[in-house]
Amino acid sequence: MKPIVVLICGLLLLVGCHTPAPPPTPDPDAELIEKGRQIFFNETFDGNGRTCGTCHPAENNFVIDPAFIASLPDDDPLFVAEFNPALKENFENPRLMREFGLITENLDGFDDLANKFTLRGVPHTLGLRFTIDSSLGPRTGWSGDGSPGDGSLRSFATGAVIQHFTKTLNRVAGVDFRLPTNAELDALEAFQFSLGRQQELTLPLPLKGTVANRGQAIFNDLTLGKCSACHFNAGANFNPNIPFPVTGNLNFNTGVEDLPDQPQDLTGELVPPDDGFGIPGDGTFNTPALIEAADTGPFFHNNAIETIEGSVAFYNGDAFNNSPAGQLIQQATGSGINLDGTQVVEVAAFLRVINALENIRQSIELLEPVARKSHQTVEQGLQLLDLAGRETEDSIMVLSAGGLHPEAVQHLKEALRLTRKAKRSIFSKSHLARQAIEQQQKARAELVETS
Ligand code: HEC
Ligand code: HEC
Repeated sequence: MKPIVVLICGLLLLVGCHTPAPPPTPDPDAELIEKGRQIFFNETFDGNGRTCGTCHPAENNFVIDPAFIASLPDDDPLFVAEFNPALKENFENPRLMREFGLITENLDGFDDLANKFTLRGVPHTLGLRFTIDSSLGPRTGWSGDGSPGDGSLRSFATGAVIQHFTKTLNRVAGVDFRLPTNAELDALEAFQFSLGRQQELTLPLPLKGTVANRGQAIFNDLTLGKCSACHFNAGANFNPNIPFPVTGNLNFNTGVEDLPDQPQDLTGELVPPDDGFGIPGDGTFNTPALIEAADTGPFFHNNAIETIEGSVAFYNGDAFNNSPAGQLIQQATGSGINLDGTQVVEVAAFLRVINALENIRQSIELLEPVARKSHQTVEQGLQLLDLAGRETEDSIMVLSAGGLHPEAVQHLKEALRLTRKAKRSIFSKSHLARQAIEQQQKARAELVETS
């Protein structure tokens, strides 16, 4: 190569203006999804100032938890009950919201607000394609009946607006809020289906970690962990290989409500029992997917357990083994679930590793448009890098808090450094994003055999 060509190539590399790779085929729903995104994060429906993003923020895996809540300013619309006199009583319990991330829900009707309510954690809205359908119809929300009318994800937004967006406790449509239009419901649905993974896992994965690999085996073993009976492929659906009268994303009473010493009960605040699905409830709750679990605690419908290890250990206790679901497992397999300390940690390690793998997948997906320069605006590029950085922080946290895969953690730390540098850089964004992707890939190769 002539020196001048080398010089130009060098300069081009320096400023990062390489020939961009062709962008992937655009999603035919891209416009609708973008419209849904705008509504999800910006539309208040003429209500109290909240948006869907108030409780489902993209930068925190579409959930809120006490640590995230503590980072918000006091005038954030999440806290309307603290500063809007019309919502002071019987709308939220600010103490339980701040201390345990609990949100008030009037799932059994709005006729006795002082006594008829439940307090629930915020579930994420990722991977919804695979966590709603059952042979009995769609199952949304912790008890599977969170959506008014036809029970679909599309209708869910209408219920959320009435519950969370109102200006007063009268909840009159057209006065206290406006209801979403059909076009808005379509856009919100398309946006929500676009979030997170678009594929189920197929277990077993060729995991490299000794501990996580054993955890996976216990998880899938129907005579030991028995987890894959209800969380098939670590998702939200019942195991199709087990003959059962109903299929898909099912409801069970696993006895979470019967746990002794639940944190929120220790406060002395009024915490009515949550009767789950239906009015009156049958005590059952809907099975959540576990791939997204490790970085979206606290766990279960009432945020009763803070750690993923504790959530696995829950299945050893009396609350589960005496529950209707525990009894079903006992009848089907001749015994309950009874894992020892090492085994609990192994299953949790497996859940940590599959969560990190999903975060790595998402980080790469977020970095790619920046590497390819196929994003639309500077602002959008910064947002993608910001979210990629947050996913990477989660991967680091999820692995290192379990003492897992220190080499992968080093690659992820380097990926995070490069991603942050890309955010600050003016000319080398794309180049740095590509380097960050390489580090993510190296981290992944530490966790799982890659072909
Ligand atoms: C004040 C907080 C808050 C706001 C605002 C909020 N949500 Fe939620 N969201 C929750 C809680 C709590 C649940 C659990 C509800 C249940 O169990 O029925 C939930 C559940 C969901 C689910 C069910 C997820 C699943 O896995 O089944 C979806 C979907 C959802 N919300 C979408 C929305 C949309 C769309 C909006 C805006 C129109 C919205 N949310 C606004 C707190 C909130
Ligand atoms: C009988 C079906 C069933 C079996 C077996 C089962 N689960 Fe679950 N799992 C559920 C249901 C239902 C919930 C939601 C319960 C609630 O919130 O009240 C749940 C919730 C969870 C959660 C909380 C997820 C979150 O995001 O809050 C974790 C973690 C979990 N299960 C792990 C496991 C593990 C590990 C095993 C095996 C040791 C297992 N499950 C076995 C049905 C089951």
